[in-house]
Formats: sequence, C-alpha cells, structure tokens
Amino acid sequence: MSTTRFSDCTSESVLSRGRLEECRGRRRKGSSVSYLEKEACLGWALCVQEEDRIYFGALELEHKSRMAAASRARRWSLAGKTALVTGGTKGIGRAIVEELAGFGVRVHTCSRHDADLQDCLRRWNAAGEGGGAAALVTGSVCDVSVRGDREALVAAARAALGGRLDMLVNNAGQVVVGPAAETAPEEYARLMATNLESCFHLAQLAHPLLRDAAAGGGAAASVVNISSTAAFYAAPHLAVYSATKGGMNQLTRCLAAEWARDGVRVNAVAPGATRTDICDTSGVALGEETRRRLADAGAMDRVPIRRIGEPEEVAAAVVFLCMPAASYITGQVICVDGGRTLL
Ligand SMILES: NC(=O)c1ccc[n+]([C@@H]2O[C@H](COP(=O)([O-])OP(=O)(O)OC[C@H]3O[C@@H](n4cnc5c(N)ncnc54)[C@H](OP(=O)(O)O)[C@@H]3O)[C@@H](O)[C@H]2O)c1
Repeated sequence: MSTTRFSDCTSESVLSRGRLEECRGRRRKGSSVSYLEKEACLGWALCVQEEDRIYFGALELEHKSRMAAASRARRWSLAGKTALVTGGTKGIGRAIVEELAGFGVRVHTCSRHDADLQDCLRRWNAAGEGGGAAALVTGSVCDVSVRGDREALVAAARAALGGRLDMLVNNAGQVVVGPAAETAPEEYARLMATNLESCFHLAQLAHPLLRDAAAGGGAAASVVNISSTAAFYAAPHLAVYSATKGGMNQLTRCLAAEWARDGVRVNAVAPGATRTDICDTSGVALGEETRRRLADAGAMDRVPIRRIGEPEEVAAAVVFLCMPAASYITGQVICVDGGRTLL
C-alpha cells in the first residue's frame, strides 16, 4: 500500500489506477465514510495511508479540490440555499432574514406572535412581488422555549423548504436584567430554555438535514448562533443572560468539533450593544440603579468605533459565516461590537 505522507499527497502523487481499485475494494468492506466514494483519487490515496486519519485528511483534501477550485462567484453565493432563522420578525433576526433572502436564500422564520409574523410576511411578499428576493420567506408561530414548539418548527421549515435545510440561525433570544440575588427561579429557567436549551435542541433537530445538505455538496451547511459580548465580560445585572451566552459559545465550539466530520460548520456571532427593542420584547422594565449601571457598562467611550451597532451590521457577519467562502471557519465566536471587547 501507499506510503505517501499526508502533507505530500497531491494529485500528482496519487496511486496508479490498479492500486486505486484495490483501495476501493478494501474501503468498501468496513467503510464508515460514504461521501469519500464521491471523491476522486486524492481521497482514496489517503485512505490507504493511515486508517485512523483518513476522515480529516479526506475532508481537507476535499476542500482543496472543491473550494479552492470554485469560482469567486460560487464561493460568495448562497443562491438556491435554504435557511431556518428563529425570531425573524424584529431587530437582528429581521435583518438576517432580509439579508439572506437578498442573497437568494429561501428562509423560514418564526416568532411567538402570529400578527407580527403575518405583517412581516405580507411586507416581504409585497416587496417580492414580481419575483423579488423577499418573496422567498415563509414563517410559523413558535415559542422556542417550548420543546414541542421547536419540533413543530423544524417540521414546518422542512415542509416549507422542500425537505432541504442548509443553514440554521439560532437568533431568538431574550434578556433578564437585574441583581443576581433577586432573580426568580422561573426567570432563570425561562431564559435558559429560550436562549440556551433552544439553541442546542434546534441544532440537534436540524442536524440530519444539515448533514444531508452537506453530503449533497452544500458547502454552506452550517449553524450560526447569535451570542453576545456579554459572555466575555462580567456585565452588571446580566448574570443569567451572560451565562446563557457563555454556554452558547462553548456549545458552538463543541458542536463544531463534533460535526466537522459531517461537513457541518458551527459558528457564533456575538453582537455588542445593537439598536433593537430587546428589553421591550423581553418584558424588561429597568430600575433606576440597573439603568445607570448598564449605561455605564455600555458607555460609548468603551467602544472604539464610538456608536451603537445596527442590526444589518450583525446580519452581514452571519451571512458571511454561511457562505462557502467561509468553508474553513468553524467553532469561532465573531464579535460584532465596534471593538468593545478590545478595551
Ligand atoms: N440588541 C442587542 O443589543 C443584542 C446584543 C447582543 C446580543 N443580542 C442577541 O441577538 C438576538 C436577537 O436580539 P434582538 O436584539 O434582535 O431582539 P428583538 O429585537 O427583541 O427581537 C427578538 C426576536 O425574537 C423573537 N422571540 C423572542 N423570544 C422568542 C421566543 N421565545 N420564541 C420565538 N421567538 C422569540 C421576537 O419575536 P416575538 O417577541 O414576537 O416572539 C423577535 O422576532 C438575541 O439572541 C439577543 O440575545 C442582542
């Protein structure tokens, strides 16, 4: 069998055809990597080299042969892809839906309130009349903190998107603000279910679909979790919220490591203060002391770019991470915060 070292393995050093046939036969007996069969000689050359390194090696070579060779237009295109974006009726989620649809992605979204959802769908459809991008959006009512709702959401998305899912964006989230010592157990449980448990369970539910999309040649197959810079510093009166986002960041890294073998990338975008109505949506009434502390923590002199972020600026990072151009980026938490986490 070949003794070609992994690092030396190029298309020129691939085994002769006779040996390749031998390799094919051998792999089929105990094969665990079905998509390798689609790969050309390069993957097979590697597979006889070192049984236990075959998987990652093949993945790397696949990218070399597919992504590097893809045209610039293909690397920066999401046309014809499909996405599930939670919480798409307001703020950052709405910007993500609109940006993805603008790139020709068919998007399914959700929120807890049907009236808001129908308003958005009407507006998007009106904007898309005559074949415009926004007509690509569908939606269903779902409270992501409820397990059964999450199951129904993924089923609805699957049906609306023709059985294919390339991207999951876990955006829906809420905030609880106040002194940790005074936080009620119900508030703690609600926020964990809304921000963290939903992120894990929806990723679990979407995984088979994302894996299928990747196996079908979908370099965009990925999960993007919307985290927060609150996970990086000890923000006052945001203990539970910060913990949900810290958990989300670690989940992002663990899933990325586990699902790379399936061709599914997992990343997070962590916005800093962004112009949305998240406190209203979360039913948060800020006390005077909390308002003062938050204003202090979010003071613009701690933000090198000296202004609050806009939802569209967060959406741009999300769309980039979904692109085939980001095919070698996984397990990362990208801050979109005007530099707030630098100081
Ligand atoms: N704004 C910021 O400064 C900031 C900073 C860092 C991170 N983030 C993160 O960014 C994400 C989006 O926040 P945002 O500021 O855009 O908030 P937002 O303006 O309040 O929008 C939240 C969206 O999620 C939906 N939603 C909320 N709870 C839901 C639930 N339980 N089930 C289903 N949908 C739900 C809302 O619709 P309904 O209310 O109708 O359900 C709405 O469409 C969150 O994960 C948040 O933690 C925001």
